[in-house]
Amino acid sequence: MSNSSSALKRRVLSGMRPTGKLHLGNYMGALRNWVDLQNKYDCYFFIADWHALTTDYADPSQVRQNTLDVALDFLAAGLDPEKCVLFVQSHVKQHAELHLLFSMITPLGWLERVPTYKEQQENISGKDLSTYGFLGYPLLQAADILIYQPDYVPVGQDQVAHVELTREVARRFNQFYQSKHTGTEILPEPQVLLTPSPKLPGTDGRKMSKSYGNTILLTDPEPVVRQKIKPMVTDPARVRRTDPGNPDVCPVGDLHKVFSDPETITKVYAGCTSAGIGCIECKGWVADSIVRELAPIQERRSKYEQDLVRVQEVLNAGAKKASSRAEQTMQEVRMAMGLAENLVDKAVR
Ligand code: TRP
Ligand code: SF4
Repeated sequence: MSNSSSALKRRVLSGMRPTGKLHLGNYMGALRNWVDLQNKYDCYFFIADWHALTTDYADPSQVRQNTLDVALDFLAAGLDPEKCVLFVQSHVKQHAELHLLFSMITPLGWLERVPTYKEQQENISGKDLSTYGFLGYPLLQAADILIYQPDYVPVGQDQVAHVELTREVARRFNQFYQSKHTGTEILPEPQVLLTPSPKLPGTDGRKMSKSYGNTILLTDPEPVVRQKIKPMVTDPARVRRTDPGNPDVCPVGDLHKVFSDPETITKVYAGCTSAGIGCIECKGWVADSIVRELAPIQERRSKYEQDLVRVQEVLNAGAKKASSRAEQTMQEVRMAMGLAENLVDKAVR
């Protein structure tokens, strides 16, 4: 896509923490949506490695590998470096600078009231989260977002409060400061683009989540996918093979709705409600559907895995593009906040 046409497109920004190899929940709830967005918008997608340190500061041994794994999964999922800007947060130092400047204007109460703050502090055991970085991470997120002056931020429901805080920070910033060049707003308020995420149960029937250990990874080979699906719980009413069941109350049925084609879904409903099929057969079909979904993803991943230098080059080029866009915003921000590099008015001489 040429620069002139990308200048006319609306801008989109989103990020993801490097939690390690991504699973089907990450894919259906975010990545797959990003892959669509890259065709319509001027997209910036990044891996939030600084955010990982807000909780994992005491043991950062996995951060580097997790960041690489997420980069590989981004590319494997179909994010195309020709169509969007892919980068690592810590490679673009301007995020940290804007975070610092935001810290000057943000009332502590705004951060203490973020719903995830107290919640996660209580729920994540074994980690001391009474740190400055943990309290401030939604503000870092505000900087991540606003520095690109995006129109839209695609996120799941769990991140909506953070984008709302971002909008409040933008509003407060704009009340204090305007562009020294144009006198207009420097940080427009972006809008949430709520990612529709289907009900996606993990292998234990609860929501698929890394913390439950019930995930199917994008990298799981076919035998692993089958092995994970085999022991899944089904409609509890189907005790015996001869008992009819209901796919609407069965986690396997939920997976069919997400991954299977209409013909298969019709077969599942007919066979399940009449006890015409067994759950083992039904699970085999859903495994087929998932394996089919994963095949092109795994094919792309293995190509990139064999050329990690290329991955590094993609991220370097992404950081460069992101930096130059971020720097554009920062020049306005610095000026507006009295941080001029030229302290002396040249017109005097
Ligand atoms: N906090 C987000 C998460 O946990 C990741 C993130 C960091 C992000 N900065 C962002 C998402 C900016 C959207 C925009 O998933
Ligand atoms: Fe679930 Fe399929 Fe068994 Fe029906 S046949 S209960 S949908 S696994």
